[in-house]
Amino acid sequence: MTRNGPILRVEGLETRFFTEEGQVNAVHGVDMEIDDGEVFGVVGESGSGKSVTALSLLGLLESPGRVTGGEIWYRSAELADSVAEETPTAVDGDYVNLLGLPDRVRRTLRGTHFSMIFQDPMSSFNPSLTVGEQIAEAVEAQQRARSNPRSVASRTQGYGLSQYLMSFVSSSRKYVSEESRDRAVELLEMVGIPDPVLRAEEYPHEYSGGMLQRAMVAQALAGEPNVLIADEPTTALDVTIQAQVLDLLDEIQAETGMTILIITHNLGVVARMCDRVGVMYAGEIVERGALADVFDSPVHPYTQGLLGSVPDLGGSSGRLQPIAGNVPSLLDHEMPDRCYFADRCPKAMEACLRKPPELPVDGAAGHTAKCYLAEEPFDESTALPDGYFEGGSTDAADPADASGAAEVASDGGESE
Ligand SMILES: Nc1ncnc2c1ncn2[C@@H]1O[C@H](COP(=O)(O)OP(=O)(O)OP(=O)(O)O)[C@@H](O)[C@H]1O
Ligand code: SF4
Ligand SMILES: [Mg+2]
Repeated sequence: MTRNGPILRVEGLETRFFTEEGQVNAVHGVDMEIDDGEVFGVVGESGSGKSVTALSLLGLLESPGRVTGGEIWYRSAELADSVAEETPTAVDGDYVNLLGLPDRVRRTLRGTHFSMIFQDPMSSFNPSLTVGEQIAEAVEAQQRARSNPRSVASRTQGYGLSQYLMSFVSSSRKYVSEESRDRAVELLEMVGIPDPVLRAEEYPHEYSGGMLQRAMVAQALAGEPNVLIADEPTTALDVTIQAQVLDLLDEIQAETGMTILIITHNLGVVARMCDRVGVMYAGEIVERGALADVFDSPVHPYTQGLLGSVPDLGGSSGRLQPIAGNVPSLLDHEMPDRCYFADRCPKAMEACLRKPPELPVDGAAGHTAKCYLAEEPFDESTALPDGYFEGGSTDAADPADASGAAEVASDGGESE
């Protein structure tokens, strides 16, 4: 799709939470390449690390979370140019490793280069300011950031997730120009808010949920970002409004060529919106590739389970159904040294007691799976006996040890 290489290249991203119970490996070894102008979907069960991945990309993690490894290469010749002198090791041609930049520089990228829309629009708006004013502030702040990156840095001390968009507001109110206010009305019109001039003067509580979600899209677009991250952008909405917001994102993407990373539980949304998809499980991307390859010929039994549990991908019922078994603990000392899905996998084999690397799937460029079945067909003769992992024998090394423990593994577990 792209001629110049991906706009975003994530390599070996590791994010940990350092909690009283121990180190939580929320994201480990995530690799992702997103092309310019593509819509990339990340899908997976609750707790699989989707939001933490997004927050890590934007540098919005809050304590006790920390990115502990990996690189996030973002292609922007303009940015590479502007940071080359101060942080030469973070620059490679037109690419900049975001993790090698000082926080104050990363902050200036939010809104301008990257923007995010969240599941709950209420959390992104300040209840005491009009919607129009807040969008105008976002326009204003981004214009200032573009012309002088350092000016934003000093105004956004203590920047965190909750202040992500609000911080544009309180600090810069008095500087909002007439042009920015006009632009806010234009943006409200663009996202399909009727009577935008009047609605711009209203407060967030005067908007319905669907309208506020649209306004949040307008706010996220105010800085003309190159990459938009949408984390469950429609989950809180009813089905009709969901479809409208997705149509809107679709249209904007087609018009502006913006790159979108969309995070969702809803496989119908992925099927409808995405060019490529990454399936997350236990902090890893376990399968990725072009939408048609992953959806029509899934290799990883987890992907197969997700897809198999959804009767109608196009409809409102496209949400993930629980797969039998427990979501694994992400505590470092509890994570086994084998395929993390093995205790829920109907095809677990002896080989799976060693951790599978990411393997290419035959016949489809860019289709990979962290599963031995990418390379070899399921061999029943090496299948682990039913009930092998029951009773906490998660790291047993010899299948013979467990041959007596023969309860059915695939239907006995709790769902999430
Ligand atoms: N503040 C925190 N402290 C400790 N662990 C955390 C914290 N936030 C997230 N985690 C860990 O990171 C894991 C991944 O969380 P994340 O929010 O990314 O899941 P998700 O895939 O977005 O789930 P959902 O679909 O429910 O939004 C969680 O299972 C949890 O173990
Ligand atoms: S590596 Fe083995 S246990 Fe893991 S998903 Fe593939 S077949 Fe199942
Ligand atoms: Mg999430």
